[in-house]
Amino acid sequence: MKFHVLTIFPDFVASVFQFGVVRRGVEAGLIEPHVHDLRDWTTDRHRSTDDMPFGGGPGMVMRCEPIFSAVESLRAANPAPLPLVYTSPAGEPFNQRIAEELANGPDLLLLCGRYEGVDQRVLDNLVDREISMGDYVLSGGELPVMCLVDAVSRLIPGVVGDSQSVHEESFTNGMLDWPHYTRPESYRELSVPEVLLSGHHANIDSWRHEQALLMTYRRRPELLTQEQRERAKQILGL
Ligand SMILES: C[S@@+](CC[C@H](N)C(=O)[O-])C[C@H]1O[C@@H](n2cnc3c(N)ncnc32)[C@H](O)[C@@H]1O
Repeated sequence: MKFHVLTIFPDFVASVFQFGVVRRGVEAGLIEPHVHDLRDWTTDRHRSTDDMPFGGGPGMVMRCEPIFSAVESLRAANPAPLPLVYTSPAGEPFNQRIAEELANGPDLLLLCGRYEGVDQRVLDNLVDREISMGDYVLSGGELPVMCLVDAVSRLIPGVVGDSQSVHEESFTNGMLDWPHYTRPESYRELSVPEVLLSGHHANIDSWRHEQALLMTYRRRPELLTQEQRERAKQILGL
């Protein structure tokens, strides 16, 4: 899958492709990063990508000309569809379902906003999808785009070594993850739950699913069905 990213801080964004699971995906040829400096599409001496807002007010706005030129030239060079995703606090809240949808879809072109955001004509005429990383304001779209790249990359078949681990993670089955332990068995008199040492796979499975249910009930009950909430209450003796 190709990720094209348009940003004024290409070195910052490039780092998401240089570590861990995403890097392995790149090395395996499953992920193709194309990080572009938006300034390459400017035509003025100062290579400016922003200007003052019409109507006045504080802050600068990203100009539409370099963005239109960049998107049009990247689309012309890429015969396959290249939907444009813009990350913004006003977008649809990102979640695992959207990550799965994007991982199963075409290559992506991701636009990182800065300043007060981008000229509305870009949103109205070029952007296919607007995605938010949460109800808070960051100073730029680079970190949201890096989060999106990471979450989508690990769902591309073959990127995560043991694909089962991706299918057993938080949100995939509508619940949070269960607790994990590793060696040593006992540390400062803190021990690992007995069932995990039993070697009895059916019991381990059922313990893990019960723990996931209880964790979700305590922290994110809205993720559960009424039936699951009742089951959790029953286990807790409530
Ligand atoms: C300082 S913010 C602009 C905030 C904008 N004026 C507002 O009030 O919503 C600059 C850029 O960071 C990115 N950004 C900031 N917070 C974000 C979030 N929660 N999710 C996604 N992108 C975000 C967007 O690309 C945005 O254009």
